Parts: sequence; structure tokens; C-alpha cells
Amino acid sequence: MNLSAMIRPEVRDFEPYLPGKPIEEVRRELGLKKVVKLASNENALGTSSKARRAIAASAAESFRYPEGPGTLLKRDLAKKLGVSEGEIILGAGSDEIIEVLAKSFFNREDEIIVSRHAFIRYKMAADLMGAKTIEVPMKNFKHDLGSMAEKIGPRTKAIFVANPNNPTGTYVTKPEVAAFMKTYAERVGSSERPPFIVFDEAYYEFAKSLAGDYPEMLEYLKRGVNLVVLRTFSKAYGLAGLRVGYGVAKSEVIQVLDRVRPPFNVSSVAQAGARAALTDQTHVRKSVAEAAKGLKYLAVELKKLNIPFLPSAANFLLLDVSPRKGRDVFQALLKKGLVVRAMDEYGFPERVRVTVGTMPENKFLITRLKELLS
Ligand SMILES: Cc1ncc(COP(=O)(O)O)c(C=O)c1O
Repeated sequence: MNLSAMIRPEVRDFEPYLPGKPIEEVRRELGLKKVVKLASNENALGTSSKARRAIAASAAESFRYPEGPGTLLKRDLAKKLGVSEGEIILGAGSDEIIEVLAKSFFNREDEIIVSRHAFIRYKMAADLMGAKTIEVPMKNFKHDLGSMAEKIGPRTKAIFVANPNNPTGTYVTKPEVAAFMKTYAERVGSSERPPFIVFDEAYYEFAKSLAGDYPEMLEYLKRGVNLVVLRTFSKAYGLAGLRVGYGVAKSEVIQVLDRVRPPFNVSSVAQAGARAALTDQTHVRKSVAEAAKGLKYLAVELKKLNIPFLPSAANFLLLDVSPRKGRDVFQALLKKGLVVRAMDEYGFPERVRVTVGTMPENKFLITRLKELLS
């Protein structure tokens, strides 16, 4: 069999996503008892007990297919967000919605606009469909929304903005977004094919608290902009393992996405967990406060160690470990029982990304870094 002659050309060159190394794998490979994982921007406080109880209670119904469209969860979200249920789509993580959007709308002749160093899944989605990715350099490690808007042309199908961005942690402000929207409107005019503006707000709950002048994107949706806002239960809601995210867009857009979405993409257990997590805003507030405390502590300690880092509006930090290679620092920390992320695929060979953990985990990180540098 000549598999390479059978494979779609888009898939032949496709680079798979590199996830953070799982704790169990590190334990097994290195024979370590204690392993701390600060590699995937998960919630330092874990899953809320309310969500855990709902997850356990839903287990007995696991023999049934889930309620396909996720009506109850969408109803809860609609109420919380002040939009209609028809303006919401659920995904197996917000990640799946990026892919469903690409499958539904991206053609080979299309272009998408992203920042250099942006979250990598947008380019991957475009690659999979054979669409072209235009990468715009960042300005001071932030999305340069002005230059991104200038790149909009007749082939542009979507502009992706992760706000805050992973892995830089930087964010764009309300006035920057307002200026971008003005240029977008000028360039797009009354086109019948206005490009999608996708704001990926995976770290929304953290940014709302940590970032001054954080934009309220749903306002633009109400004004009729062709916007898709992505959010997730994986971060501040502490449910990364269940895979639940959601997108908010015009109902006509949602109807198209829903046609392509796999029919039972969000499991019944995930739906139950997410509904319960939504009611536990105390856990969300505590999680955000824990990240804020950790960020403050790490800022002080990293300065003492002379390790530069970018200001972050989320629960992670991008550290500059130059002249060392990020890959080498990752390996050295791994041997000490600490999993972080090297950033080569993001164009940062001399940086590592670390998730803000609990205070003992943050202290573990600082101690291990100190050992490494001495
Ligand atoms: C910016 C950004 N968007 C989307 C995701 C995907 O999150 P999930 O698919 O778990 O909702 C992540 C995960 O790290 C992220 O950092």
C-alpha cells in the first residue's frame, strides 16, 4: 500500500500538536515519585467540588447518548452571557470549535490572519483545509491589531486573536480593539463576505480580573460584527479533562457550525460537570485569586533570579531563559520532577512557558530554577 499517495496533501505535511507531557509518563520514564506539572495552563485548584459531585451523579446515565445540542448547558450560558441559545455552540473544548469553523468555512484559496507567536491551533486548522496563514509580526510581544487589520484583503476568511494570547500572556485593550474594528469596517465595507473576527478568550475569567481595560467582545456581536467569541471550561472552571468549550456568534453562523459539529461531541458527563461548574462562581473567583497571588510571587522571585518574563493576564508566564535553549531547560527541569513547556514550535527557542500553580508548586518551580542556575 502506498499510503503517502493516498493521504491528503494537506495532511502529508501536517505537524501534530505537541501537548504537555503527562505526569504519569514522567513518573514512569524517570522513576520519580514527585512530579509537578506546570505545562498545560490547567487550574491550580483543580475541579470544583460542586462539579465533581455532578460528574459522579451523571455517571449512571453514561450508557445513554448525550443530549446532542447540549440544550440545558446552552440555556445556562445564554442566561449568564445575555445572548440567545441560538447564538451558542458547544465543543469538545474550544479547540474543536476552531476546527469546526475551519471545516465549515475555509477553502484552499482562503487566507487567515494571525500574529506570529499566536496560539498555534488557528494555523493548524487552516493548514488542514489547505488555506493560507498570513503571520503578522507582534509589537512588544503583543498582537499588532493595526497591522493585522491592514492585511485584510479579498481572500481573508478569518482573523484570529487570542486574548490573552498563549504563550505570551499579553493582551489587547478595549481602545486597541475599537481602533481595529474601525479599520476592519473601513476595509470590509459592505462586503457580502466579511471575514470572521475570532476572539479566543480561553483565559477570559483570569483576564477580566488581571487585565486593565480588557475588552467586552460580546458588545460587538450585539452590534452585528461577524465575530466569533470562544471560551472554555478548561481553565478557570477547572474541567480541562472533560473537554467542554463554547463559541458565541450570530445565530446564522452557529447554524452552519452546528451542521458540521459531530452530533454527540460533548459527553453527558461533561455537560453535567460544566453546568455545575457554572453555578460555582466561588471556585472560579478562588482560582483567579490563586493565579493572581502566584503571578505576584513569581514576579518577585524571577526578578531575583534575573529571569526575564512577559507580563501576563492569564495563569501562565513566558520565561526568557537565554542564552540557554528552552528545550534544555525543559529537559533539566523534567529530571527534577517539574514539567514545563519548551516553546520551539511557537518561534521561541530560548523561552519556556510555566503555568502558575498552587503556592507550594510555585515555590517548587523557583527552587528548581535556582538549582539549575547555580
Ligand atoms: C488560547 C487558547 N485557546 C484555546 C485553547 C484550547 O482550550 P480547550 O480546547 O481546552 O477549550 C487553549 C488551551 O490551552 C488556549 O491556550
